[in-house]
Amino acid sequence: MDEILSYIQGNKERYFAELKELLAIPSISTNPENGPDMQRCAQWMADQMRIIGLQNVKLFPTAGHPIVYGEWLGAPGQPTVLIYGHYDVQPVEPLELWTSPPFEATVRENRLYARGSADDKGQVFIHFKGIEAFLKIKGSLPVNLKLLIEGEEEIGSTNLGAFVEEQKDLLSADLVLISDSSMFGENTPSICYGLRGLSYMQVDVVGPNKDLHSGSFGGAVHNPIQALAEIVSRLHDRNGRVTIPRFYDDVRPLTRREREAFKKLPWSDRKFAGELGVRQLYGEKGFTTLERLWARPTLECNGIWGGFTGEGAKTVLPSKASAKISMRLVPDQSSTKVARLFERHIKKLAPKSVQTKTTLLHGGEPAITPIDSPGVTAAVAALRKGFGKTPLYQREGGSIPIVVQFKEMLGIDTVLLGFGQPDENAHAPNEFFNLDHFFGGIRTIVHFFNELPGHMHGPRKKR
Ligand code: BES
Ligand code: ZN
Repeated sequence: MDEILSYIQGNKERYFAELKELLAIPSISTNPENGPDMQRCAQWMADQMRIIGLQNVKLFPTAGHPIVYGEWLGAPGQPTVLIYGHYDVQPVEPLELWTSPPFEATVRENRLYARGSADDKGQVFIHFKGIEAFLKIKGSLPVNLKLLIEGEEEIGSTNLGAFVEEQKDLLSADLVLISDSSMFGENTPSICYGLRGLSYMQVDVVGPNKDLHSGSFGGAVHNPIQALAEIVSRLHDRNGRVTIPRFYDDVRPLTRREREAFKKLPWSDRKFAGELGVRQLYGEKGFTTLERLWARPTLECNGIWGGFTGEGAKTVLPSKASAKISMRLVPDQSSTKVARLFERHIKKLAPKSVQTKTTLLHGGEPAITPIDSPGVTAAVAALRKGFGKTPLYQREGGSIPIVVQFKEMLGIDTVLLGFGQPDENAHAPNEFFNLDHFFGGIRTIVHFFNELPGHMHGPRKKR
């Protein structure tokens, strides 16, 4: 291992140069204008897979953005790890809030700033460099690897489920490894064992059949912006609970053990509020902040628009208003069921004076992964060596929709071995990746490959 670790140490500058190239490609999956960039980014991933020594590298076209696949199967009898990640990124607006341009990776104070640096290109790159180091120094790996890197994670992994179903043989493995989440804090490694699901909805409210003069018509016609605001304001009650009937029906209650474990984590509400610049936190009564973030379902208005928003004043009573509203879900809620409950509730809340349409944009299911699996015990050992610290156990509020589908379709569990940090500005201006986490991540990954066979074979022998 020493030789591999010193190879990593000796190649830092080249890693930066390569990662900067990857981060320069604006692979914004939701933006149709970036279609050619998505293609270019997928191609970059495939080329990089070949350079580091993977075989059978392929681009699979989908109805959306291409899926990139590569493998190394030179360790017969040893476990096979399916590594999943994504090369697509979130939009960068508002651009003016970025200190350095989002697609020109820049190092400041030991942080690499760029869109996708942490979520998820930088974390995928950690795996590439871990594999490269092993193959360069040893000529082989202790485990078999299959890499599956998609371009639609940030828009709900719409085409990946069907691909996994179709390609069960190609993707068969003993476990999934994903680095697309955060450590508990700076230089505080953790294993994540839970993700929330998501139902993402759009609500369109239409009033009069055209924009109207607010003087000539105001007072006689229900303004769709007002109607929409009335609807949105009724989605939570005074205790911060979501008012949709039966919304909480399938929520798996927190166990006493889990609540106690959360309470033992190093956490301060005051510090958290201070970092976010809010004077007070807000959320469902009766639950702590970590419980609300990781184990309770929530509803957020992501955007709301309508009418005149330009400079100056225009006296208009607009014809339309819309909102994007998403709900984070926890086990055992179902994203399609919650979408139906939402739609029914909106219909009930909508005044007769306007027309309301609700659309499900995409959804993903919540996930809990076992913490006693060989993959997790190997990850714990690897983190100890990679970061010199014993990891904490945590859940996350974000979503990775494919995790549940891997379980359903391939029958395998996922290890969530994230190297980001909670304040990394993912999805926001000035996203960054902590460089200690980047290099600690590469070290951890090579240790993981090295540890896994022992952890997989150990328990089996005992049985
Ligand atoms: N990397 C995140 C998932 C994540 C976020 C894990 C926070 C842990 C903590 C991922 O790229 C992401 O943002 N996913 C989307 C999925 C959605 C579009 C279905 C999300 O959570 O909003
Ligand atoms: Zn991500």
